[in-house]
Amino acid sequence: MVQPHASRFRPTRRHFLQAGLAVPALHWLPSQARAAAANAKLRTAHIGVGGMGGADLNAISSHGSVEVAALCDVDSERLKAALSRHPNARTFSDYREMLSEMADSLDGVVVSTPDHTHAPAAMLALQHGKPVYCQKPLTHAVFEARQLRAVAEESGVVTQMGIQVHSSAPYRRAVQMIQAGVIGPVSQVLAWSNKNWGYDGGPLTNVQQPPDSLDWDLWLGTAAERDFVPSAYHPGSWRKLIDFGTGTLGDMGVHIFDTPYAALELTAPKWAMTQCRPPTGIGHPEQNVVRYEFPGTAQTTDSLLWTWFDGGWAPPKLADLNLPSDWDLGDLQLPGQGALFVGEAGLMLLPHVGEPVLLPERQFADTARPEVENVNHYHQWVDACLGEGTTSAGFDYAGPLTESLLLGVVANRFPETKLMWDAEKVRVTNVEAANGLLRKEYRDEFRVAGLS
Ligand SMILES: NC(=O)c1ccc[n+]([C@@H]2O[C@H](COP(=O)([O-])OP(=O)(O)OC[C@H]3O[C@@H](n4cnc5c(N)ncnc54)[C@H](O)[C@@H]3O)[C@@H](O)[C@H]2O)c1
Repeated sequence: MVQPHASRFRPTRRHFLQAGLAVPALHWLPSQARAAAANAKLRTAHIGVGGMGGADLNAISSHGSVEVAALCDVDSERLKAALSRHPNARTFSDYREMLSEMADSLDGVVVSTPDHTHAPAAMLALQHGKPVYCQKPLTHAVFEARQLRAVAEESGVVTQMGIQVHSSAPYRRAVQMIQAGVIGPVSQVLAWSNKNWGYDGGPLTNVQQPPDSLDWDLWLGTAAERDFVPSAYHPGSWRKLIDFGTGTLGDMGVHIFDTPYAALELTAPKWAMTQCRPPTGIGHPEQNVVRYEFPGTAQTTDSLLWTWFDGGWAPPKLADLNLPSDWDLGDLQLPGQGALFVGEAGLMLLPHVGEPVLLPERQFADTARPEVENVNHYHQWVDACLGEGTTSAGFDYAGPLTESLLLGVVANRFPETKLMWDAEKVRVTNVEAANGLLRKEYRDEFRVAGLS
């Protein structure tokens, strides 16, 4: 298991106070102890059960010790489909009601909603003392990630972010090989996704009544009220919009940057800078290049440069990457999504999702590959909730990883400007306007202690 880097910044109660917020009250319900002691089933509640939430529900309930106790979705059609597979579960459209009515009988909460609802739902669950499995990226705003991590640490419950590839054999093998020094200290990572979760257009005008099955107000949740536009928000398209999603960088970058982040034991970036079109205030850019510099670690040269390409700018052209010219890379074709680690002694290409490839191939022909098994990322969380083992992507790891990505998302609003980052103070030190984008205003009725 990859241990969090020892010097990673650890928030405390002091940070709530510095941020001008009350430290959230924790209800301290001993749910982990209850499930383990009684040898009972882990009673789970699932918030968001369509799309990836359906896959999360299937994967978590496939564990023999899980009993699905509650299902929550703002779309009654999606709720109905999930209920048909778990007919004994209670159903809700509002996660706040679900937690307030059922918290005493729940042992774990799974959050699989659009990104803007991760933090409020996960924070409420933590404040009820519940272990949480939360989809990626952990949150929609930097400040939310910092706060969730702090409360998770304070409460001591088991947490896991939904980056299931983190537990797969190829990615774990890549981490081991990098940490064994196979390609030497790493100076840069190039990573990319040719997906396009951006929107360069203007205001969304095709306003219509939401479908009868959808509670639009609950779907908006913490976000400001607005009219429904078909195909613009629900389902899935919310990713493209700054009020709800995190663009391709947040969506795919969190998977693709996870392995370099873990393998190189990175902490917080020194700065982030993007190249993209001017901001519109509506959608994330349809194509980006995002650069970061991280402080050096035991696995890197003095510092580590990370460059991300997405949309039509991915994959990057090999000729543009300034790789050492004495390496014979043959007719290497970069896959549509992946990462390239540049070490002093060679390269590692990690396709998303696939086995690591060492380059130049001839140089590494005899290099042994460690035997590594697939771990079930979902069951790892369930087992940890029942007192067996620990999770590998708890909020102590997921928080700083998400913060790093979200700083790049903020940088999209200030193209070609290096945002200098003070992780301890959670502040951009040179562009005051960027600090206003690190945290969000929640609508009054959706406020959550510790977040708004
Ligand atoms: N780990 C992965 O490989 C992976 C893959 C896809 C998506 N995801 C993540 O899963 C999450 C959902 O993505 P998706 O593609 O399934 O989106 P989606 O829009 O298709 O589905 C979201 C579901 O949540 C429901 N929902 C929305 N707001 C809700 C609320 N307030 N309370 C309860 N339910 C609510 C929706 O009705 C819908 O059923 C995102 O965070 C995304 O990043 C992860």
